[in-house]
Order: sequence, then C-alpha cells, then structure tokens
Amino acid sequence: MLQSAFHKTIDLFFSVSWLRKAYWRFWYPLLTRKLAKEPLFFLNYAYVESPPVELSLEPADEKDRSCIGLYHHVASQADLQGRDVLEVSCGHGGGASYVLRYLKPRKLTGLDLNAAGVELCRKHHSLEGLEFVQGDAENLPFADASLDAVINVEASHCYPHFPKFLAEVARLLRPGGYFLYADFRFKDGLAAWEQAMAASPLKLVRTKYISPEVLRGLDSLSDRSQELVSQLLPRSLHWLGRYFAGTKGSRVYTSLQSGEMVYRSYCFQK
Ligand SMILES: C[S@@+](CC[C@H](N)C(=O)[O-])C[C@H]1O[C@@H](n2cnc3c(N)ncnc32)[C@H](O)[C@@H]1O
Repeated sequence: MLQSAFHKTIDLFFSVSWLRKAYWRFWYPLLTRKLAKEPLFFLNYAYVESPPVELSLEPADEKDRSCIGLYHHVASQADLQGRDVLEVSCGHGGGASYVLRYLKPRKLTGLDLNAAGVELCRKHHSLEGLEFVQGDAENLPFADASLDAVINVEASHCYPHFPKFLAEVARLLRPGGYFLYADFRFKDGLAAWEQAMAASPLKLVRTKYISPEVLRGLDSLSDRSQELVSQLLPRSLHWLGRYFAGTKGSRVYTSLQSGEMVYRSYCFQK
C-alpha cells in the first residue's frame, strides 16, 4: 500500500517534464562526485545472453563484461569501422571507449548533459579519435547530415521530449546512417514511445525484446549495486538507491520480470 503510493508519487513527479530534467541534472552529477575515487565507467543495467555470446575482451575489460554486453548488442548492429559516430548520453564513457577500441569508428564523440561526467570521461578515456562534449540530447550541437551513426543506450527515458531527440538524430544522420538504440519504458509510457518512433522519418531495420537479457544483466550486477548503495548513500536513502540501481526485488527488477516494464533494442536507418 505504502509502496504503491510511493511509486505513484515517483511516476507523477517524472511526468512533469521540467521536474524530470531538473532531477537528472541533479542526480547524475551527484553520482559522478560520489564515485570520483573509484569511478564506475558504465551506468546501465547490463545485458547477458543465454548461452553467452562469444566476445573476446582485454583482461582489464572483463569486470565490465555484462555492461559491455549491452553496448556490444546495440552498437554491433551496424558496421562502424571507419565511420563518424556520436554517442548521446555517454555517461562515464565506458561504452564510448569500448566502441572506439573494438568496433573501430574513425571518430567517436560522446555527449552527456552531466558536465562532471564529461570531465571524468576526458580524464579516464584519453584515446585518439575519441572526444567528449557536454550537451543536451534534445538540442545536439552538430551540423545536419554530419554523422554515419548515433548510439543511445539506456538514457532516453530521462529526456522530457523524446520526439525532439528523434528529430535531432534524423537531422544529424547522413542518408543511410544508423540509429542504434536501447532503452526501457513502463507500460503506461509504451504507447507514446512507440508512436514517437513510428512518426520519426527513420526506417526501422530491426528490434528485439531484451528484458530477459537485461534481467540476467541485473543479476550479474546485483551484489555490486547493493554494495555501492550501502557505501555511497546515507541509510535513509538506501531505498532510493536500490530503486534506481534495479537490485533484486526492486520495482525495476520485478517490473521487468512481470512485463510491467519493457526493455527493447532497435536499429533504425535514415
Ligand atoms: C542510465 S545513464 C546511462 C549512461 C551510459 N549510456 C551507460 O550505459 O553507461 C543515463 C545518462 O543519460 C544522461 N542524460 C540525462 N538526460 C540527458 C539529456 N537531456 N541529454 C543528454 N544526456 C542526458 C545522464 O547524465 C546519464 O549519463
């Protein structure tokens, strides 16, 4: 009873677009500051196939295998070798670094709203061909038809005006360019999500329901997430940390199990 009132309050809060943006503007920089000593380079719920895909990683990347799994699943839907690529909402840059090192685009720019996160990316992922900029997914600072692919992983649920973001992606892509995308929605946001994608000028190439793989990903992260919540947040905020981290038994976890929340991946082409 108390729990459902709490979830209703959260849903109501996030339905107000300026509150939603203000919240993410506050939450992610706080997370970056809290994690400054031992940064986490991936902020997603991870993806694990059964049986696992064969993915040969450098030893230093093994600890992030399940989060890399989500990036690999999304970004390998198109051949990025030698291409100009933008990742919108690159977080702490682990995905951008993976894509640059393994999928070999010519140039990869990671963009995020979180200025502290962008600083962290610049400090830890200094690679030729990789750069990071601060910016907003709904107003992207790049020229029309200047990119071969845009990647977006588990972030668009934060954007107050998702159709604006899709319009920006369509504007930036060259003809034939790819939008490689994954995210989730709760059931009550599904129709608007699907309508926005159907109304976009981008052509759907493929989509996959990946809730089962993401649930396995959450299982792989659960101990780490519990530990981080206890370490980083005061006891009074542990419930909030568990909610966003998607630990076992949290609303995100049980909603993915029941189908109340749906996680999908997409490949679109201009
Ligand atoms: C769940 S994290 C995912 C980060 C990264 N893609 C990953 O998988 O590790 C969501 C990210 O979206 C970013 N974000 C939220 N609103 C944004 C906006 N309007 N424009 C750009 N980035 C935004 C946050 O700062 C955060 O880094």
